[in-house]
Amino acid sequence: MNLAIIGCGGIGRMHAEMAARCGLKIVACADKDPDAAKALARRYNALATTDADGAIRRPDVDIVLVTTPTPRHAGVVIDAAKAGKHIFCEKPFASTVQQGRTAIAAVKKARVKLFVGHVVRYFHEFETLRAQIQAGKIGEPGYVKMYRGGIYPGGPSSWFRDYAQSGGVTFDCMIHDLDWLRYMFGEPDRIFCQALRRSEPEKLDYSQVTLKMRNGMLALVIGTWAHPAGFQVKVEVCGSAGMLQFDSNISSLSAMKREVKGAGPTMIVPSSAEDVSPYELEWRDFIGWIEGKHEPRVTPEDALRAVEIALAALKSADTGRPVEL
Ligand SMILES: NC(=O)c1ccc[n+]([C@@H]2O[C@H](COP(=O)([O-])OP(=O)(O)OC[C@H]3O[C@@H](n4cnc5c(N)ncnc54)[C@H](O)[C@@H]3O)[C@@H](O)[C@H]2O)c1
Repeated sequence: MNLAIIGCGGIGRMHAEMAARCGLKIVACADKDPDAAKALARRYNALATTDADGAIRRPDVDIVLVTTPTPRHAGVVIDAAKAGKHIFCEKPFASTVQQGRTAIAAVKKARVKLFVGHVVRYFHEFETLRAQIQAGKIGEPGYVKMYRGGIYPGGPSSWFRDYAQSGGVTFDCMIHDLDWLRYMFGEPDRIFCQALRRSEPEKLDYSQVTLKMRNGMLALVIGTWAHPAGFQVKVEVCGSAGMLQFDSNISSLSAMKREVKGAGPTMIVPSSAEDVSPYELEWRDFIGWIEGKHEPRVTPEDALRAVEIALAALKSADTGRPVEL
């Protein structure tokens, strides 16, 4: 199958590599910046263009990759659906719930497949956490704490710095964790967010979100773009029978069993590192779905709900009040 890439920035370049590894042929690279399009196209011997519509409508294109800034996602998804192409769109799926709904309607009407890149569902450590929780290793989960922190993305003129476009760390980045929470523990009931949203002059975007889940669980999600360097992810899930922890800076997943009478104090089970990139696993999942082999791990409705939850966090931060979901 052939791929057209719309948006040849950081993640577009990474997906190009993953898609190529999965056997897709990159035939067109479109970007509003001609140099970005040319740089990527050169690597794959593809057409470089500033005409996204033309790239989408090429008869030899089977799949369109949408890696533009978030506000353009829904528009490109609709254009690709109208052209009868399958679509891989980066998260956040859309900037508003209405945009997302319109895009899903276009996809359904065209009977094409839409996959949204909620990549945390494909990270080995998160999958191991999920498997252990589902196997009852920590009993009934009651509390989850997640942390995702990194440097401020993009250069001084990047669209990430315009919060009307990116939504800052709360919308752009923590949507990963908000999606995973729902994937793992079901729907949230209520969300409360407090956030420092400073991009200039100091990069101090820090956000803390608390959620009450419908199943009674409590969750805390912290995200930041204020790191001076590097990137770190931490997760802790505490249950009636034990606790699972993961800190990307220290080690792979560890598990501790709650002490029981007659048993030793703790048990630590390190997991092995995964050698296949989670981004490649996304492509394998999407391609398998197109080929009719299985259902995808992320549905368009999941992606829309993630947008809805992340927007509720922003609304809470704006109003200072919790938002019912
Ligand atoms: N899943 C992840 O881990 C992950 C990581 C990074 C980014 N993302 C998401 O991917 C998307 C892109 O992020 P990025 O980091 O690559 O941004 P980026 O700024 O590096 O790249 C965006 C590219 O899109 C181009 N562009 C802008 N408007 C366009 C238009 N109308 N038509 C065609 N091209 C256009 C820009 O010139 C730029 O080259 C965002 O939605 C972001 O949230 C996801």
